[in-house]
Amino acid sequence: MNGNEKSKMYHCWLDYQLHKKQSKEWIYGNQIYCAEDLLKEGVIQSAIDELKLFFLQHFDLSMDVVTKRPVQAHIALDVAETYGLKEGAYEMVAEDNQLLIHADSCNGILYGAFGLIQVIKRQIPVQGLKIKEEPINKIRMINHWDNSDGSIERGYAGKSIFYHNNEIIQDMGRIKDYARLLASVGINSICINNVNVHHYETQFITDIYLKDIARIAKVFETYGIRLFLSVNFAAPISLDHLENADPLNTEVREWWRKTAEHIYKVIPNLGGFLVKADSENRPGPFTYGRTHAEGANMLADAVRAYGGLVIWRCFVYNCHVDWRDRTTDRARAAYDHFIDLDGQFNDNVILQIKNGPMDFQIREPLSPLFGGLKNTNQILEFQITQEYTGQQKHICFLVPMWKECLDFDTYAKGENSRIKDIVSGNLFGNKETGIAGVVNIGDSECWSGNPMAAANLYGFGRLCWNPHLSSKEIADEWISLTLGSDKKVREVVSKILLTSRKTYEDYTVPLGIGWMVNVGHHYGPNIEGYEYSPWGTYHYADYKGIGVDRTMETGTGYVRQYLEPNRSLYENIKTCPEELLLFFHHVAYDYELKDGRTLLQYIYDVHFEGVEQVSSYQKAWKSLNGSIDQDFYNAVNEGLEIQLKDAKEWRDVVNTYFYRKTGIRDSKNRKIYE
Ligand code: GCU
Repeated sequence: MNGNEKSKMYHCWLDYQLHKKQSKEWIYGNQIYCAEDLLKEGVIQSAIDELKLFFLQHFDLSMDVVTKRPVQAHIALDVAETYGLKEGAYEMVAEDNQLLIHADSCNGILYGAFGLIQVIKRQIPVQGLKIKEEPINKIRMINHWDNSDGSIERGYAGKSIFYHNNEIIQDMGRIKDYARLLASVGINSICINNVNVHHYETQFITDIYLKDIARIAKVFETYGIRLFLSVNFAAPISLDHLENADPLNTEVREWWRKTAEHIYKVIPNLGGFLVKADSENRPGPFTYGRTHAEGANMLADAVRAYGGLVIWRCFVYNCHVDWRDRTTDRARAAYDHFIDLDGQFNDNVILQIKNGPMDFQIREPLSPLFGGLKNTNQILEFQITQEYTGQQKHICFLVPMWKECLDFDTYAKGENSRIKDIVSGNLFGNKETGIAGVVNIGDSECWSGNPMAAANLYGFGRLCWNPHLSSKEIADEWISLTLGSDKKVREVVSKILLTSRKTYEDYTVPLGIGWMVNVGHHYGPNIEGYEYSPWGTYHYADYKGIGVDRTMETGTGYVRQYLEPNRSLYENIKTCPEELLLFFHHVAYDYELKDGRTLLQYIYDVHFEGVEQVSSYQKAWKSLNGSIDQDFYNAVNEGLEIQLKDAKEWRDVVNTYFYRKTGIRDSKNRKIYE
């Protein structure tokens, strides 16, 4: 088990020593009852290990496992298909002398064990408890962008916990602790290598790596998590010198079939493949004039016999455009590529769609593929790692943004056709659906670089489990599990978390315009960093106005991809939600916003306000010195210093840029550099 010598931050929300209790405060004895045949199951063993560890560390109570039902007070674990609960669901009932956790599956028991631990840690009375919990989304997935050399694409929390120097790390200790963290919030799928599959990672599906990967798969399996691998579409060429990777070539199809057969011999429980094809210079079916349905279905055929899935990403766009050409609009790309393929994918293919049409900006509208695609399995892709949202130096709690996405009404089947109902499979009845997140962890001591960023991983898992939870509920849960239940701590941290997304947006890019970051690494302001670039990411600021006209009437026509009434809402500048104004319209600086301010004055104002907010976070945080774990306190304190410095840089660069473009002063006469 995880050693006590690790810092408190290492345990994240699984710190079981936080506010230790006396064993006499626990009334359900020191026995865990579990039928003998269940003890053979790895997942049940994990549940028991976790309960034992918790009771030992939290109550100093050593729990015994018994296989005969005791008469004295005890915890009972029971799995039977007769409870009528769906996969992963559990019920927890505390009666006179028994606390029963029952489920129809072993995973349900594991989630129930973590559920009980949460209840106790959050000081919810156990007596009389009756809880039914069921995961709303079937696939609850983590994507790693880890490379075999140990680096992590868009990683801000150290090196990979899986790889070092193009080899798989042999010590599974940390990987096991990671599996515990993920299982505790209900994650059940993980892809452990970058969607950009380079030279060494292409070999992951060969004997060079398979045995070691099988060891990782086993660790996750005992926590109810299925392992996936990102594969290189051109693997038949790279690994075996086939002439091409054409999905309709029988030689290629046979190669994948044989390869899958072999992989599944070594890793029988493999979830399947994740594929980034024809995107950002990755190979794909377009090279052979084939569709993405043909490409995905070929792989799906290869893994079908083993219950495997193919998760195919829709992040497909041309990254070699000419900024002079005003007819191409990157926002349109995913929809344009995939909408006509609806219904053509095998039933073990899932399309993975980023929440927005561009690329994980702090504010984007929702991808119109949601609601557009009806007869296709779909997974919504979020980015937990803070590539464009402060790179884990800044506090930016992303749950409120994800909630907006999940609650977005597509009107695909009339009112109340929300994205959360599409990805849960409820709206269209698609079989394989869910949510995936590009994770924010690495080998940093607290896993996420900045310990506050762990709230995003926790929140992601909780939203996958239950997208109806509110941001506030999730923040409160995470705070009390991580930092304890002190009222002031909870108030201060909750306020910072819940306002942090808006704060970040305020001092960075206004009203949905996005980008304005330094090229390549994407950290810090560079207003025209991507303005003349081949990546298709423009804001078109000139001396009169800023924004991208994506209307049907005068713009790129992107708006047409939405269903009514969203289409009309976005088309009309008067009804377009203001926070997305510059995403959909090119707007004059003197355009009057709903509150009477001009666009320019709004930009100036929010940049000053954003910095003030960060200052107020810093002050509030300092008031917690001594009330929380000192390492945690110090790490966040340091982060806030960087955040304040950066926020000022953003404010001054943005405000000066617009002042220089317009020559118009701030109406409140604050300092804008000339
Ligand atoms: C972004 C990100 C890349 C990543 C890509 C993807 O463009 O910057 O690092 O590979 O998204 O999602 O495939």
